[in-house]
Amino acid sequence: MSTTYVKAAESVEHAARLEHVSKSFAGPGGQQLVLDDISLDVAPGEFVTLLGASGCGKSTLLNLVAGLDKPSAGSITTHGRPALMFQEHALFPWLTAGKNIELALKLRGVPKSDRRGRAEQLLELVRLKGSYGKRVHELSGGMRQRVAMARALAQDSQLLLMDEPFAALDAITRDLLHDELTRIWEETGLSVLFVTHNVREAVRLAQRVVLLSSRPGRVAREWQVDIPQPRRIEDAPVAELSLEITEVLRGEIRRHGQH
Ligand SMILES: Nc1ncnc2c1ncn2[C@@H]1O[C@H](COP(=O)(O)OP(=O)(O)OP(=O)(O)O)[C@@H](O)[C@H]1O
Ligand SMILES: [Mg+2]
Repeated sequence: MSTTYVKAAESVEHAARLEHVSKSFAGPGGQQLVLDDISLDVAPGEFVTLLGASGCGKSTLLNLVAGLDKPSAGSITTHGRPALMFQEHALFPWLTAGKNIELALKLRGVPKSDRRGRAEQLLELVRLKGSYGKRVHELSGGMRQRVAMARALAQDSQLLLMDEPFAALDAITRDLLHDELTRIWEETGLSVLFVTHNVREAVRLAQRVVLLSSRPGRVAREWQVDIPQPRRIEDAPVAELSLEITEVLRGEIRRHGQH
């Protein structure tokens, strides 16, 4: 049971490798098995979505990959330390957009003289040019998630972990951010492990959708998504595959008596 960060130069075979990962938590009735024997690879540059019903252990799994918690069994190896982005932007409200990004650069050891320029570049990458001096409360929900994305990118990780980052946004803003994320992923060559319970979102974004079962979470099925990007959530092939996946997900939820 371990989480290991392989230095960038040592291995580029996998951005992340999970081998027989299980996780239990102490509950009122003893140990509760949340994740059971999960093996999963994310290739360099690959975009994988992890899909599953509420409570199936998606965040638990992402936190393990991020190194925030340790697996009860099995091992996790990642290509460098991953960057993590949550549903809540978790920006510091007393700092401007630019300073939030600079803080991440500082923590990474970027010299002070380079930080401002790099922060401006990152803001441009997420299409927020000119928002350097804006405070968090002056930004819309979508803009905050853009800043959060820029801050995650400031960590210069090979692997970006995203835990339902757009779940709180309205449908149109979410569509826009899907487009931005796809573009940024294509431009940067990052590997992305993206958690969602939204089937259409999973299909819109991913090269591969991994469905987790519930109680305990296991890899139930995987789908390769060969629909060319840019996709739209309402495109017929996206809708068609989403329908197929939804049927399997429904079966999973029914099997576990959840609603
Ligand atoms: N630190 C913890 N201690 C005890 N139980 C936990 C802990 N973290 C998570 N759990 C339990 O593990 C299970 C999975 O939780 P998790 O948050 O990973 O689910 P999820 O798939 O991310 O759900 P959602 O879609 O609602 O975000 C839940 O039953 C939860 O109560
Ligand atoms: Mg969660």
